[in-house]
Order: sequence, then C-alpha cells, then structure tokens
Amino acid sequence: MEIKTYKLQRHGDYRGSLVALEEMKDVPFEVKRVYYAFDTKPGVVRGNHAHKSLEQLMVCVKGSLKLTLDDGTDRQSIVLDNPYEGVYIANNMWREMSDFSDDCVMMVFASKFYDENDYIRDYDEFLRFVGKK
Ligand code: TYD
Repeated sequence: MEIKTYKLQRHGDYRGSLVALEEMKDVPFEVKRVYYAFDTKPGVVRGNHAHKSLEQLMVCVKGSLKLTLDDGTDRQSIVLDNPYEGVYIANNMWREMSDFSDDCVMMVFASKFYDENDYIRDYDEFLRFVGKK
C-alpha cells in the first residue's frame, strides 16, 4: 500500500495563495461535513480508529503532521506539511495522526455526518472487519 497525495490547484497571485475544493471534483465524494483540529498538544496521537463506510480527504492547511494509514496488511506513513496537498482516506483504513507541529491545522472533508456507529476503535476488531484476522 502506498499513500497517494493529490496536488490541489493553487490559485496564486501577487496577493498570496488560495485553494478551492469542490465536491465530486477536487474532493472525490459529496461533502457532508468539514472539521479541523488545531492546538494539538505535544506528543498527542489522534485518530486510532477506522471507519466502516466514511470517506475523507485530509489537508494539513497549516504546519505539519504525520499521517499513518494501515489497511490491515500494510502500514505506511507520510508527512503532510503544505496546504496544497490532500490525502484521500478510503473507508476501512486504520489511521493515526502524530507529530503535530504547534501551529498545525488539520482539516478533513468527510462524506457523511458524524456517526459514532461508523467508527471501529479497536484494532483487533478492525482486522476482523477487513477479514485480516
Ligand atoms: P475524535 O474522533 O476523538 O477525533 P480524532 O479521531 O481526530 O482523534 O473527536 C474528538 C471529539 O470531537 C469527540 O468528542 C467527538 C467530537 N466530534 C464531533 O462531534 N464531530 C466530528 O465530526 C468529529 C470528527 C468529532
């Protein structure tokens, strides 16, 4: 498994930069929810879960973080450190986010409203869910 990043179109001019994301175009699904995490404390690891059906696009709009994805067979990490790069996170992917810079703002576009029933928070349960155990 390889984590693929997508270059987002950067509209830059003498005033600065702007990125626009439209559903079904720049984001490969209909966007039902957007959330962002910031002021993450040193040493914190977020995520530690998978989603049964939710799809997401993650963009580190400020600062940097490390994203680790695990499909039950393989585990890969990537550093996200710029606001014109997105990572598509399919369902059935265990994710961990760590190494947040002090100024990090992690923004996530999601295909569904928040639903606790869509979460798998136990790694062994995740492996069973994806048929790897
Ligand atoms: P959490 O799922 O722990 O975030 P992460 O997976 O990135 O570590 O979410 C933190 C809190 O925010 C938790 O109380 C649930 C709440 N929350 C919402 O209400 N709506 C959302 O869309 C998300 C992602 C979280």
